Formats: sequence, C-alpha cells, structure tokens
Amino acid sequence: MINKTRKKIKELLHQNKEQVEILVMGWIRTRRDSKGGFSFLEINDGSCLKNLQVIVDHNVDSFERNSGKIHTGSCVSIIGKLVHSPGKGQSVELQAMIIEVYGEADPDNYPLQKKNHTFEFLREIAHLRPRTNTFGAVMRVRNRLSFAIHNFFQDRGFIYLNTPIITTNDCEGAGEMFQVTTLNVDSIPKVDGSVDYSRDFFGEKTGLTVSGQLEGEVYAMALSDIYTFGPTFRAENSNTSRHLSEFWMVEPEMAFYDLEDDMNLAEDFLRYLFKDVLEHCLEDLEFFNQQIDKTLLKRHQVVIDNQFERVSYSKAIELLGESNKAFNYSVEWGNNLQSEHERYISEEVFEKPVIIYDYPEEIKPFYMKANSDGKTVRAMDVLLPKLGEIIGGSQREEDYNVLLNRMKIKNLNPDDYKWYLDLRRFGSAPHAGFGLGFERLVQFVTGMENIRDVIPFPRTPKNARF
Ligand code: 4AD
Ligand code: MG
Repeated sequence: MINKTRKKIKELLHQNKEQVEILVMGWIRTRRDSKGGFSFLEINDGSCLKNLQVIVDHNVDSFERNSGKIHTGSCVSIIGKLVHSPGKGQSVELQAMIIEVYGEADPDNYPLQKKNHTFEFLREIAHLRPRTNTFGAVMRVRNRLSFAIHNFFQDRGFIYLNTPIITTNDCEGAGEMFQVTTLNVDSIPKVDGSVDYSRDFFGEKTGLTVSGQLEGEVYAMALSDIYTFGPTFRAENSNTSRHLSEFWMVEPEMAFYDLEDDMNLAEDFLRYLFKDVLEHCLEDLEFFNQQIDKTLLKRHQVVIDNQFERVSYSKAIELLGESNKAFNYSVEWGNNLQSEHERYISEEVFEKPVIIYDYPEEIKPFYMKANSDGKTVRAMDVLLPKLGEIIGGSQREEDYNVLLNRMKIKNLNPDDYKWYLDLRRFGSAPHAGFGLGFERLVQFVTGMENIRDVIPFPRTPKNARF
C-alpha cells in the first residue's frame, strides 16, 4: 500500500504548521536549478490550481540517482519536510529528503513544455491536456457544478431519475437522432423497399436519446418532482462553439407547475449554481478571470444580483425590429430566434439574463401547452449574456385531445406515443420542466470560448477520437 499516508497538495497549502515526513505524489510542472546546489520543483497533483514548491538539495542520496529523470512532465513521489516558505506566492514549501521517479517524460518528446499552447493544439492531445492549469481548473469547476446540481434538487425533494439512453422516440422532433442498430450495414434486410427493422436488435428502429423529458414526465406523474442528469446525443451538423454531438443535460420535471413556476425554478437554480461555484471554486474562477475573460467575475455577479428580465417572444420580435441593427437572419414573427438575436437582447437591451416565453407554436415541439391565442405555446428559453440559450423548457400539454391534435399536425404517429398519451388519459395533471445544457453552464461559468474545451473528450461532427 503506497497511498495511505500521502497528502494532497491542496491540503498542504492550507496548512501553516511545519511538519516532518510528508509524502506527496504528482507531476512536475517545472524544474529550475540554482548554482548553490539546489533544484526547485513545482509539483501539481490536480487537487488545486497551485503547485507545491519542492526544494531538493543535490546532496540528498536519491537525487544523484534520479536527477536525469527529473524534468517537466515526470511523475514523482517525494518524502520531505514541510516548512514555512520565505518565497512570495506560497506559505509553505517542501524540503525533499527522498525523491523517487515513477515515470519520466522525455523532454524531447513530451508535448507540454512550459510555453502556452493554443486550445486547438491541446484538443489534438486531449489525453495530456488535463495536465495544464486551464483543463485542471475546468474539470474542478465542472465537478463542483455537478455536485451543486444534485444538492439543489435533493434539498428540494426532487428524485434523481435515470432515463434510457437507447430509445424509440425523438422527443424534440427535429430528426437529429443517431441510429442504434446491429443490422449489417453492408447488406440491410428490406421488405417492399424499406428497411426491415423487425430483424434489428430491438425489433424496431432505435436511436440515442435527444432528451429524457418524455420518460421524465412519466415519473413526474407519480413522484411529483424528478430530475435527470445524463448524456444526450444530437446528430445535428452544427460546427459551432456552442454545440456538441454528445453533451450532458439536466432535466427537471415537476407536477403541479405552470410556466411561471417553471421560470421561477430555472432562475433560482442558475443563481444557486453561480453562488455555489463562487464559494467553492474561487481560486479557479480567479484564474479564469485573469487568463480567459477579464469580465468573468463581474458577469457572475450580474447573474447573482439581478432578477432575470422576462419578455414574451412577440415583445422580443418588436425589440429586435426597433433595433436598427443589421442581423444576418431576418427578424419576423414566426421565425426562430438566432443566437445573434438572443445575444442582442440579453447583452445590449437588458445587459443581464433574459427569459423569453410564449413562442410561436410552429417552431416548437408537439408536447408544449397551447395558449388560448391559438398561435403560441407556453415555452421559455433562458438566455445569458455572451452565451445565448442555456435553458429551454415549457409547460406541457396535459389535455388528451389537444395533444393528440398537435401530434397529428406535426406528422407524428399517435400509436408510437400511446404510453405518453396515456399520461393524459389517467390522472393527468398540469406539469412543466426544462433542460439545462451542462456544458453551456460550464462554459459560462469558466468563460471558456469553445464548448469543446469544457468536456473531457468532445464529440463533434467528424471527431470522436480518444
Ligand atoms: O432546448 P432543448 O432542445 O430542450 C429539450 O431538449 C427539452 N426536452 C428540455 C426539457 O424541457 N426537458 O435543449 C435544452 C438545452 C439547451 O438550452 C442547451 O443548453 C442544451 O440543452 N443543448 C446543447 N448543448 C450542447 N450541444 C448541443 N448540441 C445542444 N443542444 C441543446
Ligand atoms: Mg432549445
């Protein structure tokens, strides 16, 4: 057993008493040799942003033997004495007594040398990028946010629900599903010219889920308040800094909620997450504020301090029309809002988060509750400055006949959704929910420009490496 007495660097840096015989393990970030016969090493073990400074006296036995292997990237185990540091920027440092090398990293070939690398380059070495300051910080923030998401819902009595990944339904109706099949794609069985899915693994056409909402509704109609938090797949060919083909989504679904309750929950949820991450990841966020986006902490404060603005879709169209701005996509009632429109409204008109609600029926999925105007549905999107849409949600149609009618209009086969319609036949209730894109949340919190850099291994069109 080697791990028992090991100390994590985060813990050591928070101590201010001197200690003998401390064991640390980690990766060398830098080595600097002094003329006086000492080496100064910066060690990082991922527990926090800061490195531990280690001073190795060249007279220490194990130094002689290992010196040639001690360089940037090498993994080491050090036993030493923790002492107060006279140097700036750290309260303690370690005086090494024994230093052993687990694995060295040949300086001629190790790609992470001290200079700054571009994020594009780091994506090419996604297996090594976690050893950089930025990716360590992103993953610690991501970790804290996912913990805070569970805390938020658990504190409010929501049940965590795992919805299926393989499914037969296309919840959003946008035809963006990845197909799942065991049929031999080189010779697909057919009847009357069409694929014979009765011979496929599940006996029908299946794909990877685009949303767990429909299954979530089933459980909300029994447990009242549920949330999902899982992988979600979209085969849309969008090469943008906001889209992934595989991302994580959080989807709460609540019985006895209307659209206003839904918006209130979404707003409380985001504010809670920003406060939590500020409290628990301040060192990492200060790093992002310094290195990635100087307005980051100011923007977080805006989210925490301000009520979100709420405007109807129709009002948003008016505001866009009055703007005299040249948008790439035309502004017309009935069209989808593009990200340039969303950003204009949240960044320039209100300069804070905005919730847009009551969208035209034609541009939204079948399950949203119809308003009495005959034109709009009870949908809402939460927009954040600099990011655009982070949450999409709605009140659900709970009336059997209205829902059936909308399915027909959207060319869905009601036979495929019998179980979903049954929720409206047996003990139907008003209910609502929303979906939060987890990576977009991490993007906003860290200020990272590209969504590919806030998930360990991004999947995007033409890229599923690692
Ligand atoms: O707006 P969307 O498509 O809504 C739904 O899927 C609903 N069924 C949610 C619900 O009501 N339960 O997706 C929800 C959120 C978006 O606001 C966005 O943040 C994120 O998921 N999202 C993506 N994130 C990364 N890459 C993509 N390709 C994404 N597509 C959606
Ligand atoms: Mg949406």
